[in-house]
Amino acid sequence: MKTVIEALTFRHACKKFNSEKKISKKELETILKAACLSPSSFGMEAWKFLVLESKKVREKIRPVCWDQPQVTDASHVIVILARPDLVEPSNAYIKDMFMRRKLPEDLTLAYIEKYKWYMETEVLPIMTPYAWCAKQCYIALANIMTTAASMGIDSCPMEGFEKVKLEKILNIDKEKYEVAVLVALGYRAGEQTPRLRHTGEKLIEYR
Ligand SMILES: Cc1cc2nc3c(=O)[nH]c(=O)nc-3n(C[C@H](O)[C@H](O)[C@H](O)COP(=O)(O)O)c2cc1C
Repeated sequence: MKTVIEALTFRHACKKFNSEKKISKKELETILKAACLSPSSFGMEAWKFLVLESKKVREKIRPVCWDQPQVTDASHVIVILARPDLVEPSNAYIKDMFMRRKLPEDLTLAYIEKYKWYMETEVLPIMTPYAWCAKQCYIALANIMTTAASMGIDSCPMEGFEKVKLEKILNIDKEKYEVAVLVALGYRAGEQTPRLRHTGEKLIEYR
């Protein structure tokens, strides 16, 4: 396994996958474990990871994913689904998530109140529950890509898709789930494109 910095250096948005080379079940399980270990605000884990192995399914969705070849040439595509239905402050799920911490009852109630207050004053006035969940799905996305890279597996994050059409083709239960982002995983077919980045000087400020 590569170190974190080695993995981050190895990772690039892979545009050209070797369609013959598959990720092993064990490697895929490690990548999915990283996804499930990702942090989420208040620990709500309002996501789901839909793994597309079937080439047929990936051929079906490719046209609504801007016809990107990564969709069919990669070994797997993970569709990261947000669960906006779960995070509404009134949902019983919220209570369950705090209860599982097995804290004293007054502390559990205080957490629930804090959550409600936070959602009502800080989140919902400026974004939808979907947007809030999707932000967190991107943390799982990053962990998926870094973990894959640590094992020499390439990836491509993908926002280039038509959401409504994609959800329809994948038969997503819209009462519960919405597509946040996709990630293709596999092995590169060609050379990595040059890494273009601003310098730290431009992006980092100390105070
Ligand atoms: C949220 C997100 C969505 C992206 N969507 C696509 C996409 O649909 N197709 C694609 O080829 N690259 C996509 N990219 C890759 C970026 O273009 C790429 O990360 C960026 O140009 C930097 O290149 P690098 O990742 O190789 O360093 C996406 C990246 C992110 C973070």
